Amino acid sequence: MYFINGSPRTNGNTAVLLDKAMEGAKAAGVETERIDLYKLDYKGCASCFACKLKGGGSKGRCVQKDGLSPLLEALRDAGAVVIGSPVYFFNITGATQSFLERFFYPYGLYTEETTCFPRRIPSAFIYTMNMKEDAAHEAGVIANLRPGQIFAARLLGEESEALFSFDTKQFDDYGRYEASKFSEKEKIERLRLQFPLDCRAAFEMGKRIAERSGVK
Ligand SMILES: Cc1cc2nc3c(=O)[nH]c(=O)nc-3n(C[C@H](O)[C@H](O)[C@H](O)COP(=O)(O)O)c2cc1C
Repeated sequence: MYFINGSPRTNGNTAVLLDKAMEGAKAAGVETERIDLYKLDYKGCASCFACKLKGGGSKGRCVQKDGLSPLLEALRDAGAVVIGSPVYFFNITGATQSFLERFFYPYGLYTEETTCFPRRIPSAFIYTMNMKEDAAHEAGVIANLRPGQIFAARLLGEESEALFSFDTKQFDDYGRYEASKFSEKEKIERLRLQFPLDCRAAFEMGKRIAERSGVK
């Protein structure tokens, strides 16, 4: 079972929640691996359509060869996948978007079949953001994040879950940055009271997805 970190920070909010989800999956007896996308050198879909060519031999496979290729190959055999991204400019990070283009697009068929992913696997998304929940809804962020789940369900063949962590602590020390809009005191309180609940929810989600994967 793969856990994909779409944050440049390897120990940030997204990574911590992914690790908790991974603990949950391990508790269910499933083998896990975390991949940090920012450690890989790759680009988004080049729109070459090689994966859609009649008789082209690359159906379901991305022909672009770069640092993402080994992960894309490994994901063909995954029992489940959890993808985490911080919210940047009301959406997923560029690295996550480029990854999803390369992961999902080759499996998407412009025919009645819909997908050529070799199996049906469950998936989940973890999103972290500075914004409070009501502001995220109001700004359309939650709606912007829906396509990940929609395409995951359609292409990987099983329902996909999402977990949101709002009002995250972005800086270790707010005093060092120009960030008077935020109250460090409130952020610390949030980290102390809410973030552990988000971690717990991530653990449970990881466990649930692992159990649904049926892979040991
Ligand atoms: C370039 C950039 C853009 C961001 N844009 C948003 C945003 O639009 N909305 C939001 O709520 N938070 C935004 N944030 C804050 C992050 O989403 C938030 O701190 C997140 O929890 C960071 O995740 P990480 O700790 O895993 O890196 C932005 C952060 C950066 C660096």
